[in-house]
Amino acid sequence: MVSPDQVAARRQLLEQLRLELLAAPELATYCGAKRPVCGEGNPAAGVVLVGEAPGGREDRLGRPFVGPAGQILAEALADAGIRRDEVWITNVVKCRPTIEGVGGRLRNRTPTPAEVAWFRPWLLRELDIVRPRAIVCLGATAGSGVLQRPVKITRERGTWVEGPGGTPTLVTYHPAYLLRRSEDRETRYAEFVADLRLAAARAASGEGGGPG
Ligand code: URA
Repeated sequence: MVSPDQVAARRQLLEQLRLELLAAPELATYCGAKRPVCGEGNPAAGVVLVGEAPGGREDRLGRPFVGPAGQILAEALADAGIRRDEVWITNVVKCRPTIEGVGGRLRNRTPTPAEVAWFRPWLLRELDIVRPRAIVCLGATAGSGVLQRPVKITRERGTWVEGPGGTPTLVTYHPAYLLRRSEDRETRYAEFVADLRLAAARAASGEGGGPG
């Protein structure tokens, strides 16, 4: 069990990390005028969920997964019997990657390898503070950012591999992918919920890289 004092200490370390990121001289190169969206949740969580990068709503509110993908994630967490505030939710890239669309409107784009690489040490430090027993990567970009190799969700979904620091890690769908499915949405959604349950069970079982 992690004591309340340890939880408070980790929260403080995560806050220090956020302040360090805000002060990083290269941040403007990777973030532009946008502000980073850092992780949130339980600083001593058994499960860390890692997404790709914040979208528009996340950028506006400064919180991860609070837009349409976040709604699916919230639904799936609830169906898996997991409270959002019991996990730690973060992204491989902390600033919204955008591209100018029609009429100058900003649209989301996939982060570049350079963006993923620049934010990786911050993610690793974050994981090192939370020390989860299980990591869940939401989508292929998050999976390859965490595992540092190409990831194919259709082939690897729901299977455990060794992640950073030896932590058991699995990749699953990105919730936004589920938003786009029509025919097989229910099946994919059920798989997504099953993967979240699997991670919670793994964390609860005590196997993994977290604290005793
Ligand atoms: N998609 C992500 O990958 N992360 C977020 O925080 C929001 C949407």
